[in-house]
Amino acid sequence: MKKILFFPASLRRGSHQRRLVGHLCGLLGAGFEYDIVEAGEIDLPIYNQDLEGNASIVDALVPLGARFAAADGLVVCSPEYKAHVSPYLKNTVDWLSRIPRLAPSEPYPFSMKPLLLASASTGWTGGVLGLQDARKIFSYLGCLVHPGQICVSSADHWAQGDSYRFSEEFAAHVRNMMESFLSLVGVSHD
Ligand SMILES: Cc1cc2nc3c(=O)[nH]c(=O)nc-3n(C[C@H](O)[C@H](O)[C@H](O)COP(=O)(O)O)c2cc1C
Repeated sequence: MKKILFFPASLRRGSHQRRLVGHLCGLLGAGFEYDIVEAGEIDLPIYNQDLEGNASIVDALVPLGARFAAADGLVVCSPEYKAHVSPYLKNTVDWLSRIPRLAPSEPYPFSMKPLLLASASTGWTGGVLGLQDARKIFSYLGCLVHPGQICVSSADHWAQGDSYRFSEEFAAHVRNMMESFLSLVGVSHD
């Protein structure tokens, strides 16, 4: 059984990223289980190196890092804020990237980790500009970032309850992208 960790990188109630995660979880076939990092689960201050000695932060960071490290693949859904990733995503990643320094006996969360990027935006870009940033960040961290991505534009239009009802053509694109990513997960970890 392979485990996929989904990270919807928005703190907003009713977030489109969370909705997209729900939709993508529904596309996982047999042989996959998933974990979702819910917004309320992370309470890390804005990264400041002076806070690295704070034991309560390290105590919160280690189990979060372990969830990333235990996953066979990561799916990150980030909103686009002014053509960049969300500050919540960047902050979480900045803290996680310090695990080798703060808890050296813990596994590095990103090492050769297959990762699929996705974004849902109420605008016309579908978050494609923010994902360029995300691609740079996660490649730098050591992830195997899938060359494709999922960008949902005009997200309000497609939203239906906790999921999306896309056009047939776009739904097929999303399914194909997930299939391709899941085969990368299978290939890189078998
Ligand atoms: C500060 C801010 C900046 C935004 N910048 C962009 C942008 O650059 N491109 C875009 O398509 N949407 C932008 N949006 C709209 C977001 O796509 C929209 O708020 C989306 O719902 C955010 O994701 P969420 O629902 O998961 O929180 C921005 C929204 C905010 C609040």
